[in-house]
Amino acid sequence: MGFSLKLCPLVFVLLSFLAFSFSSSFSSSSATQLCSHEHATVLLQFISAFSINKSASSGCEYFSGVKSYSKTLSWKEGTDCCFWNGITCDNVTGNVIDLDLSCSNLYGSLPSNSSLFLIKSLQSLNLSNNDFNLSKIPREIGQFVSLKHLDLSYSEFSGQVPNEITHLSNEIRELILSEVNLSSLNPRYVMNLSSSLINLDLRFSDLKGNFPHNILQFPNLRIEGQIPKWMWNVGKDTLRYLDLSHNSLMALEQIPWRNIEFLDIQSNMLRGVFPVPPIKMICLFISNNHLSGEISSELCKANSLEILDLSHNSLSGMIPNCLPDLSKNLSVLNLQANRFHGNMPSMFPKGCKIQNFNLRGNQMEGLLPRSLLNCSELEVLDISNNNIKDTFPHWLESLHKLQVLILRSNKFHGLVHNTKANSSFPKLRVLDLSNNNFVGPLPVHYIENLKAMVNAHEHGNNSAQYMGGRFSYEYSVMVTMKGFFIELEKVLTIFSSFDLSKNKFSGEIPKVIGKLSSLKGLNLSHNNLSGFIPHSLGNLTNLEWLDLSSNELVGEIPQELVSLTSLSVLDLSNNQLDGCIPQGNQFNTFENSSYEGNPRLYGFPLTKSCDGNGMLQQPLGSFHGKDHELWEFGWRVVLLGYGCGLVFGLLMGYIAFQIGKPKWFVTLFAGQHIKKQGM
Ligand SMILES: *[C@@H]1O[C@H](CO)[C@@H](O)[C@H](O)[C@H]1NC(C)=O
Ligand SMILES: *[C@@H]1O[C@H](CO)[C@@H](O)[C@H](O)[C@H]1NC(C)=O
Ligand SMILES: *[C@@H]1O[C@H](CO)[C@@H](O)[C@H](O)[C@H]1NC(C)=O
Ligand SMILES: *[C@@H]1O[C@H](CO)[C@@H](O)[C@H](O)[C@H]1NC(C)=O
Ligand SMILES: *[C@@H]1O[C@H](CO)[C@@H](O)[C@H](O)[C@H]1NC(C)=O
Ligand SMILES: *[C@@H]1O[C@H](CO)[C@@H](O)[C@H](O)[C@H]1NC(C)=O
Ligand SMILES: *[C@@H]1O[C@H](CO)[C@@H](O)[C@H](O)[C@H]1NC(C)=O
Ligand SMILES: *[C@@H]1O[C@H](CO)[C@@H](O)[C@H](O)[C@H]1NC(C)=O
Ligand SMILES: *[C@@H]1O[C@H](CO)[C@@H](O)[C@H](O)[C@H]1NC(C)=O
Ligand SMILES: *[C@@H]1O[C@H](CO)[C@@H](O)[C@H](O)[C@H]1NC(C)=O
Ligand SMILES: *[C@@H]1O[C@H](CO)[C@@H](O)[C@H](O)[C@H]1NC(C)=O
Ligand SMILES: *[C@@H]1O[C@H](CO)[C@@H](O)[C@H](O)[C@H]1NC(C)=O
Repeated sequence: MGFSLKLCPLVFVLLSFLAFSFSSSFSSSSATQLCSHEHATVLLQFISAFSINKSASSGCEYFSGVKSYSKTLSWKEGTDCCFWNGITCDNVTGNVIDLDLSCSNLYGSLPSNSSLFLIKSLQSLNLSNNDFNLSKIPREIGQFVSLKHLDLSYSEFSGQVPNEITHLSNEIRELILSEVNLSSLNPRYVMNLSSSLINLDLRFSDLKGNFPHNILQFPNLRIEGQIPKWMWNVGKDTLRYLDLSHNSLMALEQIPWRNIEFLDIQSNMLRGVFPVPPIKMICLFISNNHLSGEISSELCKANSLEILDLSHNSLSGMIPNCLPDLSKNLSVLNLQANRFHGNMPSMFPKGCKIQNFNLRGNQMEGLLPRSLLNCSELEVLDISNNNIKDTFPHWLESLHKLQVLILRSNKFHGLVHNTKANSSFPKLRVLDLSNNNFVGPLPVHYIENLKAMVNAHEHGNNSAQYMGGRFSYEYSVMVTMKGFFIELEKVLTIFSSFDLSKNKFSGEIPKVIGKLSSLKGLNLSHNNLSGFIPHSLGNLTNLEWLDLSSNELVGEIPQELVSLTSLSVLDLSNNQLDGCIPQGNQFNTFENSSYEGNPRLYGFPLTKSCDGNGMLQQPLGSFHGKDHELWEFGWRVVLLGYGCGLVFGLLMGYIAFQIGKPKWFVTLFAGQHIKKQGM
């Protein structure tokens, strides 16, 4: 008796499911009674294994850009399951064909006897962004023979993916296994999936080895017997979207998928030459690998390319002169951190659509090509860390969409032209000319006209938005921020900084600089600037770092600076400043190092107090900075008090540091304290 009672639920479920399938396949269609009571029971049984736990889907917004909510709360016995959240039924048969429980706050293990596997009619299953408590993906997954779309990404499955997953091969068109551990799955098995596969997303899946190296090496002989034919044909004509990013793949000498439009294979261990993209390719992300050698000019045949990111490899040689030919479709050209040398390609044609051009960290020489003026969509130009020898490209000022101009660490020289045009650089928010050989006065007329730095909100977008975003590609730039040289992986459209440090600018700091009230950072250090610190700097109320060190500034530190309550890094060292250091607010938090090398400066935190007794004065006022819960800027700095050396915490909302780790990792661990390591 007890025995049969125990078995009862399972038997009931099985029977009811069979009954359901039976009845539904033979019943005439009826719009009013779609989902049977029995089918609802199967689903409820399946879901009863899980608890609802918000933290189970905490990565959802980051990975998938949607908010999590508990879809299964609407699942009530006695109601039509076809109207439950996350469920789609076939109108005619009433079978559940689509189960989307992504981002549903599900927490718990998925057992192999889960009644989920009874729903053989499923064509689409999305369990992404839940927490399956490191349980294994059950072999039974292979039983969904009608499945066309499967998404198990970011769901805390552990162990290995069962080879049974390749049983899905007949129908499957979309397979998303991001962050699912495929380390032990032979790429051969993956490649034995359906020949109708369109979208394969295996990022962060621990794939290792040569993908499918032995096939691709001799593509024209991509040799019966040595190269299994079925491998050649998998997705060869159908695959349009393939994401293999963040794995350990080592070789991809040719791209075998003829109709591929989107290939993300960034952050692997690919060696060898740059594979020529097939002609229909629209997005190619192959950054953060070990590719070397020159880029073949064959690349220029792929004239549908809109995003080309080859950054962080060891590619060398000249940039093919034909590359600008792609610019009528290309919006992102990211070649940063390679070993390209020679002149920049010179002929950017009329109608050039490039928005983001990044050449940072190569060995480019010569002049900045004037034909860049044809790229009227240009928003970001970063050519830092090269050997470009030119004068200031004042001619860029008519690029009305230019927001970020970074010329850092090149051989730019001469005066920065003082044009009188009112409309110069109307959108420019980030200007970095540091570490060049510019001379003469600071460019007052430019400063007067940098409208986007006066009010970034008016010129950027009100709601916090990032630059880029097309095909989920967000622009990143390297800036010096608070003494760190860091990569902003995402650039908010309201971020603004001005860095003219390490040049030979001379003369006074113009008062008008106080108009640039959106600035988060101002760095004029290591120049020959003289005269007083303008009181108008007190108007830069968004300023978070201010570096005027190593100049010849004289006079007192303006009392107005005390009103900069967002300021967390101040460096006025190595000048000729005198008088008393202002007290109150952020000034109670700065260290000696902010002031050293100014022998006539007195007051806290220096040991020479202002009244001349050699007694340390108590700080006046108290720290009452705003409550920076989450600045619009998207990140915050927490001062840990001024007793603890140079340590401060950077709590990052939306900025991640590029430290060789995948983006998601960095972002998830972005609460850690970062030690400031001497500027
Ligand atoms: C919620 O889920 C997290 C992991 O996602 C787990 O650490 C925690 O213990 C769970 N809380 C409850 C109440 O189950
Ligand atoms: C699964 O759900 C997530 C989050 O809603 C979504 O981003 C993803 O595109 C879905 N996967 C499929 C294959 O539809
Ligand atoms: C099923 O019903 C939905 C919603 O009423 C409708 O949009 C869809 O076209 C229907 N499909 C078929 C095959 O009748
Ligand atoms: C999660 O897994 C651990 C270890 O296997 C187990 O002890 C625990 O009961 C599981 N929790 C849930 C909610 O399934
Ligand atoms: C699955 O098996 C476990 C024991 O391993 C049992 O407790 C549970 O009731 C079974 N679930 C179903 C739906 O049969
Ligand atoms: C993936 O699974 C393998 C073998 O089970 C294991 O050695 C490896 O650490 C796993 N990787 C991750 C990221 O969990
Ligand atoms: C791949 O599929 C073919 C036929 O569909 C089958 O014969 C072969 O065994 C499969 N290979 C693997 C590794 O599963
Ligand atoms: C732009 O791309 C389309 C296909 O997406 C292609 O047909 C067209 O020739 C390309 N334009 C140029 C100027 O290369
Ligand atoms: C813009 O491109 C055209 C050819 O399309 C070229 O003749 C012209 O010189 C270019 N403009 C500049 C400023 O180089
Ligand atoms: C620039 O602005 C000033 C004052 O707003 C105006 O007098 C002058 O005519 C403008 N110059 C040009 C070239 O538009
Ligand atoms: C604000 O963002 C929207 C959507 O991304 C865009 O269409 C619009 O042009 C942006 N506005 C400005 C002023 O950049
Ligand atoms: C700074 O702000 C004060 C008061 O709002 C204003 O009078 C002054 O003109 C401003 N200075 C500059 C340079 O904008």
